[in-house]
Amino acid sequence: MADKKAQLIIEGAAPVDLPILTGTVGPEVIDVRTLTASGHFTFDPGFMSTASCESKITYIDGDQGILLHRGYPIEQLAEHSDYLETCYLLLNGELPNAEQKASFVSNVKNHTMVHEQLKTFFNGFRRDAHPMAIMCGVVGALSAFYHDSLDINNPQHREISAIRLVAKMPTLAAMVYKYSMGQPMMYPRNDLSYAENFLHMMFNTPCEIKPISPVLARAMDRIFILHADHEQNASTSTVRLAGSSGANPFACIAAGIAALWGPAHGGANEAVLAMLDEIGDVSNIDTYIAKAKDKNDPFKLMGFGHRVYKNFDPRAKVMKQTCDEVLAELGIKNDPQLELAMRLDEIARNDPYFKERNLYPNVDFYSGIILKAIGIPTSMFTVIFALARTVGWISHWKEMLSSPYKIGRPRQLYTGETQRDLQKLEDRK
Ligand code: CMC
Repeated sequence: MADKKAQLIIEGAAPVDLPILTGTVGPEVIDVRTLTASGHFTFDPGFMSTASCESKITYIDGDQGILLHRGYPIEQLAEHSDYLETCYLLLNGELPNAEQKASFVSNVKNHTMVHEQLKTFFNGFRRDAHPMAIMCGVVGALSAFYHDSLDINNPQHREISAIRLVAKMPTLAAMVYKYSMGQPMMYPRNDLSYAENFLHMMFNTPCEIKPISPVLARAMDRIFILHADHEQNASTSTVRLAGSSGANPFACIAAGIAALWGPAHGGANEAVLAMLDEIGDVSNIDTYIAKAKDKNDPFKLMGFGHRVYKNFDPRAKVMKQTCDEVLAELGIKNDPQLELAMRLDEIARNDPYFKERNLYPNVDFYSGIILKAIGIPTSMFTVIFALARTVGWISHWKEMLSSPYKIGRPRQLYTGETQRDLQKLEDRK
């Protein structure tokens, strides 16, 4: 925090001094909290110029393509760490030592099952319901099962809720998939790693237990790491906003899942595959590139562009490498959809429209291709994003509750009618 000030000159009013705050890295931030005393608000729909909170968890430099969790570059975490270690880091601020890691992993494994009664919730949904619709419901329902950890002012309760959420999300996600398939739900296996256990619950059945490929488990784990947190995006901000009213953690995470569902956010990985289906063939690419550039056409190239990364998405680089490993493991060489994806990638990277606007493939472009190759249906893609992001959401929720905070309550620029008198129904035209 520095003593530097900004001065706001408002015509016809006294100048307003506003403190300038500095973080450990990143641009200076003008503190406008005292501005209301002058009778003014700021206007920033979409939060393009507004920091909604102070945080120590994740740092992004969109121009340089940098993503750090608690200071550690995402590339190093993806290469040398695993998802549960990354969870520990996000939740606690430091990487665990061997003893801390063993205790954390065992703690998570203690909580992998969900209450048997929760299974009955699934029967209320149609089998063809979108998995994200079911996830919103069953994650919100956790608050009806785990009453013993709902005191948000108790740090121990917050800790147990965080562990429960990280532990139960793969179980719930796999249950959603099995329900849609009409297959028996698989119980978690605590002798497997986090990613192996998820693939086991997804793809094994009680009558056939196949070993999990280490390459696919590693790819899954990387997908989890690369989606674990991304500072104040729409879903994380939703979780913080819901949490600021004192709502319980399971309700807050359900709100985050709802916000993630949209195609401009977590729904993009599913939208990438739907787009590839729609384009159909390499010969149609030119038509679709023209549509993407046409201002009067709502079509966008899904998996391209990012609100913050205006150079490249560092997660996409790691994801591309994992994509190559998975395709080699599965022996996929001549997949027409993949060929289409690679061709789109190449064209968009060289086309002036995309170059001028810094529209690069983002994490969802490659994760969609990997998930499809592993055999995960497209409707489950955003569920997997939600599973992985839960630790980021809950870390931000915990961070917010650990220091003094205010309920989130944005102001507005009102452009509606001014006060007027009601006319009785018989007098209205
Ligand atoms: N295809 C074609 N044109 C695009 C695209 C795209 N995917 N993305 C942005 N543009 C154009 C946009 O039309 C605008 O053009 P102009 O300056 O001529 O008006 C310019 O690029 C700037 O775009 P913007 O809409 O102002 O950028 P934004 O920061 O508001 O939106 C975005 C970011 C991610 C919502 C957007 O790029 C998009 O919709 N991309 C496709 C969806 C997608 O892949 N989303 C996943 C994001 S990564 C996962 C996550 O973190 O949630």
